[in-house]
Amino acid sequence: MPVIDIHSHFFPRTWPDLAARFGTPNWPWIKHTEPGKADIMVGDKFFRHIYSACWDPEVRLQEMDRDRVDVQVISATPVLFAYDRPIEHALDCARLFNDAAVELCAQGEGRLRALCQVPLQDPDAACKELSRCMRAGHLGVQIGNHVGEKNLDDPGILTFLHHCADEGAAVLVHPWDMFGQSRMPKYMMPWTVGMPAETQLGIVAMILSGAFEKLPRTLRICFAHGGGSFAFLLGRLENAWQHHPVAHGFCELPPSQYVNRFSVDSAVFDPRALNFLVETMGAEQVMLGSDYPFPLGEQRVGSLIRTSHLSADAKEQMLGRNAENFLNLKETNPEPISQSAAGPIVPQGNQLTYSSYLKVPELLELQHPQSSPQHHDELLFIIVHQTYELWFKELLHDLDAVVRNLRAAGASSQSQDEVYEAARLLRRCTEITRVLVEQFTILETMLPTHFLAFRGKLEPASGFQSEQFRELEFLCGLKDEKMLRYHKPTPEAHAQLERRLREPSLRDVFFGALRAIGKLHVDASATEQQGFEARARAVLALYQDEHSNRHWIDVCERLTEFDELVVSWRLRHIQLVERVIGARMGTGGSPGSSYLKLTLGKKFFPELWEARTLLTE
Ligand code: HEM
Repeated sequence: MPVIDIHSHFFPRTWPDLAARFGTPNWPWIKHTEPGKADIMVGDKFFRHIYSACWDPEVRLQEMDRDRVDVQVISATPVLFAYDRPIEHALDCARLFNDAAVELCAQGEGRLRALCQVPLQDPDAACKELSRCMRAGHLGVQIGNHVGEKNLDDPGILTFLHHCADEGAAVLVHPWDMFGQSRMPKYMMPWTVGMPAETQLGIVAMILSGAFEKLPRTLRICFAHGGGSFAFLLGRLENAWQHHPVAHGFCELPPSQYVNRFSVDSAVFDPRALNFLVETMGAEQVMLGSDYPFPLGEQRVGSLIRTSHLSADAKEQMLGRNAENFLNLKETNPEPISQSAAGPIVPQGNQLTYSSYLKVPELLELQHPQSSPQHHDELLFIIVHQTYELWFKELLHDLDAVVRNLRAAGASSQSQDEVYEAARLLRRCTEITRVLVEQFTILETMLPTHFLAFRGKLEPASGFQSEQFRELEFLCGLKDEKMLRYHKPTPEAHAQLERRLREPSLRDVFFGALRAIGKLHVDASATEQQGFEARARAVLALYQDEHSNRHWIDVCERLTEFDELVVSWRLRHIQLVERVIGARMGTGGSPGSSYLKLTLGKKFFPELWEARTLLTE
C-alpha cells in the first residue's frame, strides 16, 4: 500500500512578473535570498520563507524517501488563488501555475501528482479550467473555502462542485483569506485561529445549506487541516440543530449524519486530536495531509499517524488506502518505493520492518529543541544526552544480570558458569563505558558561545536529574540518599531510586557470594573497618590462588576496570564542563566543576583497590 500525502504545496522556481503582466499591484512574487532559500513576497510585503523543496523535485523526493512517503499531491498556495481579481487575470494566473505543477510532476519519477487551481469567482471559467487540467493529468482541484462573501453553499460554487463530481476530480478545500484579520495582526493568529474557523465555516455552510443533498454522492471532497475546528465543535452544532429551529438550516438530517460525505486530512499535529478526529469522522474519512514543505506543516510527514496508537488497519487507511479512493488512483497506482527497490526480500503488509522493529519514526520524533529560532547545535546537545541515557539503560540491564549471576554463583559453589557469565557481561559494561568516555569529544565540537546561546533555555534541567545515572551509582554501591531530592518532581523516578537504595548493591552481592562459597570470612560483630579489611583480604586471596579462581579474578578485574572507567567518565565530563562553561554554576544549581571535582574520589568497589595495596612481592 503506497503512502500518499494529499496535502502539500509547491512554488515554481520562478514565474513571470504578474504585476507587470496584468498592470495591477500586489501580486505574489518570489525573492531568492540564498541558495536553496527564498521568500514569497506579496507586493512589497513579506509573506513567507520557503526552501528548495517547493521547486526542486530532487530535494522533495529525497525528503519523501526520508519520510517514507510514496506519493505526494502538490497544489499551489491559496495566496495565488486571485479570486478577487478580474477573471482573465485569475484564469491566466491559474493556467500558469497549473502548467508549472504538471511540469514539476513530470520530474517526480511518477511520485508527484497535482491538484489544479481555478478562477472560482467565475464558475464557467472554473469548470473549463478544471476540465483542461484533468486532461493534462491533474487529479483534481484545490479551492479556497470561500470566494469573497460567498461560502461553499453559493449556487455558482455548487455548480462547480457538481462539475468536479462529473469529471471525477478530487476536491481539496483549503482555508484562505481569513476573516477578522484586523483583530489578529500578530503571532500568526490568522493561521492558527482564523484558518481552523474558516474551514469549520466551509463545512457547516455546506451541511446546513443542504448542499450535500443537492450534490451527487460521487463528489469526493476533503477539507484541509483536519477540517479545522469542525470535529471538536460538532457537538455544539448538533445541539443547536436539535434545539433551535433557526440553526436547523436546510439539511434533512442532524449534522453528524453528513460526516461520511467528506474527508479531512490529518494535519492536526497532536495525537489526542488525531484520535478524536478519527473517532468523529471514522478512519475511512481521514487522509494523510502534511502541508509540507511549509513551516507550519508536519515536520516528518506521516509521523503523527505512524506513532499514534490507532490500529494498524486504521493507519493503513489513513496513510494511503483512503487517498487511493479519494484521488481515484487505484488504476494508475505507482508501485510503493519499498516494493520497487531492488533486493531479495521485501517486507509486505504488516510484516516487521527495520523501522517498525526499531521504532525509528518514534525515535526521530523525540528531539525537541527549546531554542527559538532553533540553534543549530541544540540538536547535537539533545542527541548526545539521549544516547548517553540509552547506554545507561543498557548498563542497568546488564548490571542487573551480573547481580543475578553472582547471586546464583553464591547459591552453588560447584558451578562456575554463573561467575563466567557475570565476567562476560561485565566486559560488555566496560566496553560501553569506554564509548561513553569517548563520546564527550563529539559535544566538544560545540563552541562555548554556541552552547551559551541556548543554555538559558535549559534551566533548571541538569544532569543531576539523570535518574539512570543515579540508579547506576546506587546499584553499584554508591548510595547517597540526599540525591533523591532532585527527583521529587518525578515520583516514578523517585520510587525507583528508593527501591535501588533499599536493595543490596552489586558490591553487596559480590561479597555476599564470596562469603556464601566460603571465600570471605567476616564476623557479624566486626566493625565497618574490620569488615572492609576482611573483604579486601578475601579479594587478595583470590588473586593469590589464580589457578583455582580464574573466573572470580576475571570478575574482579572487570569490576575494577568498570570503576576506573567511571572515574574517567567523571574526569572527561569535568573537562567538558570547564571547556564549555568554565567555572560557572551548573543549571542544577551546584557550583559547577568545583562540585564535580569532589566526585572524582568516589569508587564503587574500594576493596578491589585496597587488595592491590595488600599484595606483596
Ligand atoms: C555542555 C555540556 C555539559 C555541561 C556544561 C554540563 C554541566 C554539568 C554541571 C555543571 C553539572 C553539575 C550539576 C549542576 O549544577 O547542574 C553536571 C552534572 C551532571 N552531568 Fe553534565 N554537563 C554537560 C554534559 C553532560 C552530558 C553529555 C552528560 C551525559 C549524560 C551529563 C551528565 C551529567 C550527570 C550524570 C551529572 C550529575 C553528576 C554527579 O552528580 O556526579 N552531562 N553537568
